[in-house]
Amino acid sequence: MDSIIPLIDLAKLDDPDPAKRREVIELVRGGLETVGFLLVKNHGVPQQLVDRAHNAGLEFFRAPEPDKLKVLKPSKTINRGFMPNRDRLVGKASTPGVETLPALQEGFAIGPLDISDEYYRSGSKALKYAPNKWPDSPADFQTTMRDYYDHMERVFQKVMSMMAVALDLPPGFFDRFLTYPSSTLRLVYYPALDREPLPGEERAGTHTDTGAVTILHIDETTNGGLQVKLRSGEWIDVHKTPGAFIINIGDMMAQWTNDKWVSTLHRVANPCFVDGKTSDRLSIVHFCQTNYDTLVECLPTCTSADNPPKYPPVIAGEYSRLSAAKVYGYKLPEPADA
Ligand SMILES: [Fe+2]
Repeated sequence: MDSIIPLIDLAKLDDPDPAKRREVIELVRGGLETVGFLLVKNHGVPQQLVDRAHNAGLEFFRAPEPDKLKVLKPSKTINRGFMPNRDRLVGKASTPGVETLPALQEGFAIGPLDISDEYYRSGSKALKYAPNKWPDSPADFQTTMRDYYDHMERVFQKVMSMMAVALDLPPGFFDRFLTYPSSTLRLVYYPALDREPLPGEERAGTHTDTGAVTILHIDETTNGGLQVKLRSGEWIDVHKTPGAFIINIGDMMAQWTNDKWVSTLHRVANPCFVDGKTSDRLSIVHFCQTNYDTLVECLPTCTSADNPPKYPPVIAGEYSRLSAAKVYGYKLPEPADA
């Protein structure tokens, strides 16, 4: 079923043959207009770095809880540091009418590295550009995650350039919106289940992502895992494709394209117990976000006389703040100067 999600070879975007480049762009367009997900290979991220990040993440989460609580997330609305299991809602329960219970996942989030500009330290901007928290152990955790974050931002730039071409825009169209991106890297750890889940308890409930683009690395899994809802209403399993990242667009990008591209519902299904136990699992998710101040208004190639813009222009950072509260089910404090 994974073939519904096209596999994009990023190296082919530089092919000297324009027909080959067009072929890739057509695949991108088709994937984002129908399912909102792509797989990308030849992305330039060394496999060794991906493996190091995965191993450092697992070592962090498998440590005793008191060690992890030393880098506890500072508040509900600041995505930095460790988030304990069953700490927040994610999306909605898959079964209609069943109350959604907190997700069966732990998390660790980092944001933009080394922000020195005071402009980003005030009001609601300060939430998106908040300082990072780093655990002492594993010893290579910080250097590895910083390296991984940098590489993810490079993939984000490449993907946005590819998307611009797929939207009949110049390849550098989005560059001006990516000079101070506010992306969040989140390690999501799904501990082995300690009991059968209650109704409404899932590793991640049904949701769409809210930002521009998500770049995802997943573990192979024999049961449970990432599932994507097709327009037909059918849910499909998404398996690991070695060497490739899963890319999907979020609500903000769908809105930017006037819904030409789709932000698709997905979830993380619970595993089944085998011989009385389940395995744990780690995903590495990079929620790519543009500059906080980006004005997201209908792209010029996504509107016409008979297809007017559906949404009023919105500031990306503010859109992100409001929509994250919706997905994760918390109330927002009023920012000091917003
Ligand atoms: Fe998601």
